[in-house]
Amino acid sequence: MSTPVFDIQPIGRFNGESEPVKRPKEFAYFSYDEKHEFHLDDSSLQWYYPPRLGADLSKGFDKFDKHDESIDEHLDSLLKTIAAHEQDEGKKIDANVVTWRGMMTKMMSAPFEDRDGFEMNATLYQDCIFIEDNYESKQFSKEQQTKQQRGRRGQFSPEVMTYWGYKFETLSCLPQPWGEVSREYIENRDEHIVSNKAQYCSVVRTGIGKTVLCLGGEVDAIWDSKPTQKGAPINWIELKTSAEIRDDRGMNNFERKLMKFWIQSFLLGVPKIVVGFRSQGGILTKLEEIQTASIPETAAKRGVRSWNANMCINFASAFLDWLKTTINDEGVWKIRRRAGSSAIEVFKVEEVGHGSILTEEFINWRIKL
Ligand code: A3P
Ligand code: MG
Ligand code: MG
Repeated sequence: MSTPVFDIQPIGRFNGESEPVKRPKEFAYFSYDEKHEFHLDDSSLQWYYPPRLGADLSKGFDKFDKHDESIDEHLDSLLKTIAAHEQDEGKKIDANVVTWRGMMTKMMSAPFEDRDGFEMNATLYQDCIFIEDNYESKQFSKEQQTKQQRGRRGQFSPEVMTYWGYKFETLSCLPQPWGEVSREYIENRDEHIVSNKAQYCSVVRTGIGKTVLCLGGEVDAIWDSKPTQKGAPINWIELKTSAEIRDDRGMNNFERKLMKFWIQSFLLGVPKIVVGFRSQGGILTKLEEIQTASIPETAAKRGVRSWNANMCINFASAFLDWLKTTINDEGVWKIRRRAGSSAIEVFKVEEVGHGSILTEEFINWRIKL
């Protein structure tokens, strides 16, 4: 049997009105604490409070408390959270696809991004496709990225530049709402040790075209407080750093980045992105608040030719429809797009079982249900 292939090109066929999308609704959440230990609560939720401009984003790099990424976490935390929710509700969630938000971001940006490629593992269980990142390929592409960055002339190592993003989060967040933290805490944020171990992750039900999705992903901060009504929109904030825009080339780069910012935030229903612009030397010089929903429109108005939001949605819708008919049998499958390729291949790598995608705990829970 030949390998099923979904053609990305020609992308013109995804043009036109957008397929229906469901507004993402959070139905569960979890936190990783400062040791990256899992908790079924919102203890790592953070509040946004504007940082001081002029801060040096490299400050404290030597004390960075960095999460060890050499451990493959699979879908474990997401599955735990889903199982706990199902236990409360007494029934299974209705998603056709369960995955991390990051996987969906890669799929949805595929028509306009062919540089990196991707590899994911997938398995069908009880009429739902579970998709995880392929750990080996993730490590490999990270190494490639770091190599490329090292090849560029610059004052700062890729590690320091990655630190800037986390430092910006530390400078922009509070562990409690404003008013419940001391002035001293707010003013001393520049002295705090930066860590990327703690996270708050939102688990949402959303939909693209005919596919119902359950996505888990980190949200950086909240503006005010969570609404009391379940499923109501939440004023999440996504924090991003970006180089100051100094010329047309800088503008083009930023507009391309906006596509990723938009997809990432759109998928979890994050309404606002706060961009911290930084100088070449890593000094925070400007803040800009961007409404997620305004990004596609602004891009279209400015005549940005490099990407189009409706095409991302229509592509994802068609691809997910195809995926549901292709992954129709037990075992472990691979979803692969090679860098530069105009197609996504899906093929079986294990005839039976669910590999390491599903935990025993999750399978046992579902058998009981
Ligand atoms: P920036 O996005 O400001 O660069 P996120 O924005 O998704 O909340 O991620 C927080 C930070 O993690 C990023 O800040 C960046 O520093 C780092 N990061 C996330 N994804 C990355 C990737 N693919 N490669 C390198 N660094 C990444
Ligand atoms: Mg984040
Ligand atoms: Mg962020």
